Amino acid sequence: MSERKKRILLVIGGGIAAYKCLELIRRARERGYAVRAVMTKAAAEFVTPLSVGALTGDRVFQDLFSLDDEREIGHIQLSREADMIVVAPATADLMAKMAGGHADDLATAVLLATDKPVLVAPAMNPYMWRHPATQRNAATLLADGVALIGPNVGEMAERNEAGPGRMAEPHEILAAIEARLAPAPTGLLAPPPLITPPAAGLPLAGRHVIVTSGPTHEPIDPVRYIANRSSGKQGHAIAAAAAALGARVTLVSGPTGQPDPRGVDVIRIEAARDMLAAVKAALPADCAIFAAAVADWRVASASDEKIKKDGKSSAPRLELIENPDILKTIAHEGPGRRPSLVIGFAAETENVLTHAQRKRKSKGCDWIVANDVSPETGIMGGDRNTVHLVTADGVEDWPEMDKGAVAEALMARAAAHLRTMTADV
Ligand code: C5P
Repeated sequence: MSERKKRILLVIGGGIAAYKCLELIRRARERGYAVRAVMTKAAAEFVTPLSVGALTGDRVFQDLFSLDDEREIGHIQLSREADMIVVAPATADLMAKMAGGHADDLATAVLLATDKPVLVAPAMNPYMWRHPATQRNAATLLADGVALIGPNVGEMAERNEAGPGRMAEPHEILAAIEARLAPAPTGLLAPPPLITPPAAGLPLAGRHVIVTSGPTHEPIDPVRYIANRSSGKQGHAIAAAAAALGARVTLVSGPTGQPDPRGVDVIRIEAARDMLAAVKAALPADCAIFAAAVADWRVASASDEKIKKDGKSSAPRLELIENPDILKTIAHEGPGRRPSLVIGFAAETENVLTHAQRKRKSKGCDWIVANDVSPETGIMGGDRNTVHLVTADGVEDWPEMDKGAVAEALMARAAAHLRTMTADV
């Protein structure tokens, strides 16, 4: 018996990129998918339902209150019959409606009613994409388990405007669909967490999460130390986000100027060895996130007394030895001690993804949150972050968000992952 064709429900939003949908439909059907289209009112200004219908080989759905449609096939049925919903192009307005849970037309009603994976391909002017409101909406959608692809950086339809906002190309969207519907080891995107009805209580209730944050200070003598520029903003935001989702959180932090997140058990340490001891003492945990910028080396024998400048002897030479790798140590703990989900960070200044993928394996962790910390990005110490989530299934490129939104999206993903792990047993 031949396998049933996988069904894609394509929601076409009202943007200039709507014309690219025709190519997407053509390619998807060539790959054996059945495609059915829902168009918003604005989409019909850019591409005719006639062309869309000719390519899908099906009728095109437009009205929430069309008696015919509702009798024959309503919005619930449309969303249930699909294996996946793809929103392309997703305008800023459509993303805002999705993030807000609106359902005032057929497209948004279908998206709110679905129990299937949703992939969104944003397309808009770069200023609209960068606007904090759109960034907030993108973060909300990610936290809700929706996958985003793009936008790509490039020239816009408007003259003299370039930047992030171009819709991902049809072949890229198709690759993301295939990664999701038939997960391959090298998939572009990891399968999204299933959108499940809200559990009783908060998603991380009953879970213990350990977070490391900030720099470490490695003593040279009682008054001097070796340190780095980590602000602790991202790690503290993660601890706060985990607590907001109901987890019991242990935050092991080096010296930072960050206030203690509310409802979090904060353990303050200075040196890497103390951080390792504190994390070990806090085990067991369901999830551990290593956001601290741990010093790789410490002074082999720190002086008990302040090293004096006596004017006669030459400057002291510091012999450095390697610090324990906390993430690697915890990722290799035995059964019952190793947290089910171990997440590391990779702050790189070049070849970010190659290094991050290698690091995931060498450290033995499950996920790596990778980011480019070259000075020109302003990420170190700044409020915003552009990260890539590297898992066993591939790499997800997240849009630029503030560090709080990155933390919320990461913890929502972690909660969904822990839920599927528990459901597997
Ligand atoms: O090796 P690298 O420092 O680039 O790895 C970064 C990741 O490893 C981060 O998650 C960091 O918190 C963790 N790490 C650690 N202990 C070390 C060095 C790094 O936990 N000694």
